[in-house]
Amino acid sequence: MSKHYDVIVIGGGPAGYVGAIRAAQLGLSTAVVDNFIYKDGEPSLGGTCLNVGCIPSKALLDSSEQYHKVKHTLSAHGIKAKDVELDVKEMIKRKDKVVKDLTGGIAQLFKANKIDWLKGHGKLLDNKQVQVTGQKGEQETYQAENVILAPGSRPIDIEAAPLDGDRIVNSDGALDFDDVPKRLGIIGAGVIGLEMGSVWSRLGSKVVLLEAQDQFLPTVDQRVAKSAQAEFKKQGLDIRFGARVTNAKTAKNVTVHYEDKDGKQSLQVDKLIVCVGRRPNTGDLFSEDANLLLDERGFVNVNEQCETNLPGVYAIGDVVRGPMLAHKGSEEGVMVAELIAGGNGHVNYDTIPWVIYTHPEIAWVGRTEQSLKSAGIPFKSGTFNFGATGRARAMEETAGMVKIIAHAETDRILGVHIVGPQASELIAEAVVAMEFHASSEDLARIIHAHPTLSEAVHEAALSVSKRAIHKA
Ligand code: FAD
Ligand code: NAI
Repeated sequence: MSKHYDVIVIGGGPAGYVGAIRAAQLGLSTAVVDNFIYKDGEPSLGGTCLNVGCIPSKALLDSSEQYHKVKHTLSAHGIKAKDVELDVKEMIKRKDKVVKDLTGGIAQLFKANKIDWLKGHGKLLDNKQVQVTGQKGEQETYQAENVILAPGSRPIDIEAAPLDGDRIVNSDGALDFDDVPKRLGIIGAGVIGLEMGSVWSRLGSKVVLLEAQDQFLPTVDQRVAKSAQAEFKKQGLDIRFGARVTNAKTAKNVTVHYEDKDGKQSLQVDKLIVCVGRRPNTGDLFSEDANLLLDERGFVNVNEQCETNLPGVYAIGDVVRGPMLAHKGSEEGVMVAELIAGGNGHVNYDTIPWVIYTHPEIAWVGRTEQSLKSAGIPFKSGTFNFGATGRARAMEETAGMVKIIAHAETDRILGVHIVGPQASELIAEAVVAMEFHASSEDLARIIHAHPTLSEAVHEAALSVSKRAIHKA
């Protein structure tokens, strides 16, 4: 037995590394075991989010948006750009640098907080021991007072479209195309499908998304989802619903066979991205005699405070129930570190914001109209279109709307749904309001600067009681 720690975290993604930093800040001796190897062959902290998720996808979303703007939308501002050229390799290089800078930054934070980074695969053994297997197979066992499991998740594969690492890829591969595919197929019109579809469509791909369900983004408020769907259609994203992929064959191209309500169909594409959801990383995470309980869906079973069935063993992030979002995992990491140090920790699962970084962006927090209806909760709502705000018009970004839903009797805000420019930033106001149990009347009485996009949030709040100013 080598070393003893107050806390050993398995997994250095946004759940694990944030929990580790908070634990170290609270004076606990802390180590993080992580097995991620970046494409350059180097161990890299930050997990899925920093290496192959949130950060690289947003870097490419931003680059592709800049390109699209210069090429297509700046002319409306009287700016004419000629001979605009695209260098995909340079774009990918910039994305890689953003990733490297940020993952290197976490290594620096670990040093500053005296957190040991144990490079290798971690396995929970009996009695809070953690076995670490290095890249060359060398093994060491450590004793912990507390273990935090934060191994994250990985893409779900489907038999009908096995990955070949070149033409058929998952989200990892979709971040590394070295050229713009002329025709791009995507299986799954969920969050990754829409974000990756947007990137490559803006750069010139003809994108077809095959979605198994009949409804677009069923967990999003349907008025907002419909508004977004109409915008994506205008942008040329071809989303085919009720599509059941039966097989995908690669030769020079990829031929995807699928069935929909009209029968058997096929589609020829140059690249195919499979993004049909993610599953928790529990393989080889714990030994049998550790007796860790999983839930019926294969996630580590935890209570509201992320405690597992084993005293002193916690699990956080994508490996446990709840949305697979970086900020949700990070908050769980902080909560667990506080609890271990003898303090109070809390995550309000009702106010976790979601953002889909398309253009326009989609962002929401709280309940949707359809979920309130099915739960029989009485509500009222107000909407306001960005097109009626001066700022959105000045920006030439008029698509989209804000919708605020409040309880019919108490007026407490139950959900806020935005599709439009900078929805990712605007949603923060709604999260704060809901965290402080605000009513729509509270938001309606708050002064919002003019001219800003946030005036649409203000007007939507006024609209709940039918007194929006700039609405006929
Ligand atoms: P992870 O980030 O998956 O980290 C887990 C780490 O543990 C990994 O490094 C893994 O290699 C390592 N590991 C696993 N098992 C072991 C083991 N036994 N021993 C040692 N190490 C182990 N979320 C957002 O909130 N916003 C976004 O914009 C966003 N964009 C995304 C875009 C894409 C393309 C993808 C795929 C995901 C995106 N997500 C986004 C989701 C987000 O990445 C995850 O919710 C988040 O990374 C989960 O954090 P985590 O710490 O639980 O796990
Ligand atoms: P997803 O659950 O968002 O979407 C998957 C889609 O694929 C669904 O619409 C589903 O109906 C469809 N599908 C499932 N099986 C299918 C099949 N066989 N054929 C056709 N369609 C099928 O999952 P996705 O996009 O893979 O993303 C995984 C998770 O990663 C997200 O749910 C989210 O938690 C996280 N993420 C978050 C982002 C953000 O916060 N902006 C960005 C990207 C990912």
